[in-house]
Formats: sequence, C-alpha cells, structure tokens
Amino acid sequence: MAREVVAALDELAVGDTVQVELAEPICLVRLGEADVRAIHDVCSHQGQPLHEGAVEDDTLVCAAHAARFDLSTGESVGIPEVAAVPVYRCVVENGEILVDLDDQLNSAEPA
Ligand code: FES
Repeated sequence: MAREVVAALDELAVGDTVQVELAEPICLVRLGEADVRAIHDVCSHQGQPLHEGAVEDDTLVCAAHAARFDLSTGESVGIPEVAAVPVYRCVVENGEILVDLDDQLNSAEPA
C-alpha cells in the first residue's frame, strides 16, 4: 500500500478531527495550516473512537476517560497512562491529505 488521498484539506478546519476508513479506522487531526496528523482511531484504553476527542496543543484527548496521546509519537501523556496508539505518515499536497499506512511512525500495536 502506498500513500493514498483520504480527504481534501479544506474539509478539515484547524483544530478539528475526522475519521476516515482505510484498512483500519484512522483519525485525522489538523494542527495547523498544512499540518495534519494521522492516528489509529481506536483508543488503547477501552476502544473508544479517538476522533470524538478534543485537540489540545499537539495532543488528542480521548472523550471517554481523558487519556491523552502525543500526535507525533502516539505515546500516552499523563494520567491515565495507557498503551501507545499507532501514528502514520500524513502529508498535505495540492490541497489534499494523504496517508501512508505502510509508513508507521512508531512501533505501537493497533488496539
Ligand atoms: S477509552 Fe479512551 S481513555 Fe478510556
């Protein structure tokens, strides 16, 4: 699998999240003008969809029990401390968001 277009950049406002279905559910998070992150959309705590969470700085906070994930490393930050979540290469080109599930940026296992 290679990079694939998953959404148009203008469909996702800065600070927002959206779920896209690839071979696994992915949560896109737009942190800045051309800064979009792709994280597995299943919380490693009890499996809630992460796209329902809140973006705070460079982290995503799960809506269920407030586990917080670093969007660069997928590691949990603070309490509750839970397992890391996979994060994937995500780029913006020509107004489109592309994700490559073959280019995982950490070694976390999907929940
Ligand atoms: S399911 Fe995400 S913090 Fe509990």
